[in-house]
Amino acid sequence: MKLNQHKIFLLGFMGCGKSTLGKKLANKLGFQFFDLDKCIEEKVQMSITDIFKTKGEEQFRKLESEELINILNSNDNYIVALGGGAPCFNENMDLINKSGTSIYLKYNEGILASRLINAKAERPLIANKTKEELIDFIAELLKEREQYYLKSKLVIEGTNITVNQVTDLLFKNS
Ligand code: S3P
Repeated sequence: MKLNQHKIFLLGFMGCGKSTLGKKLANKLGFQFFDLDKCIEEKVQMSITDIFKTKGEEQFRKLESEELINILNSNDNYIVALGGGAPCFNENMDLINKSGTSIYLKYNEGILASRLINAKAERPLIANKTKEELIDFIAELLKEREQYYLKSKLVIEGTNITVNQVTDLLFKNS
């Protein structure tokens, strides 16, 4: 892998920090940054919450796959922060792995729940859950989703994943 010619995909459960890390990483590497959820919101001119409310999850997944394919068709170097469910629907994970380097930001359900407890309002799948419900919900969904997440080319596990950790790993694997 040549780092000056590349496409990097950050994936993992809601709350694992894909967007924050993606922006910093893009800045450091001088790559373009896409936030898949933001691309969908711009395209439809609606928030993710309103898309789930008015169109339903199935339609959201369709829009998500379409927007992902739009990004994949761009030739530039870029970093994409994917929504937590994006790798788990349609052929998305295979398409991602054919296009570039996928990185799974791995946290356990306890850490994810504490990261999400104050950031659930804008996430329709968890907006109405209590802290106890949240841990069980995450544990169950994570079990289903890890089969997709673990197809990633790189997995980074930790309590506080940093830009330097990611760039070191990328260079080591280049
Ligand atoms: C979802 C994750 C969200 C967003 C939508 C559905 C999911 O993105 O795409 O609410 O299915 O896990 P984040 O992972 O950025 O929160």
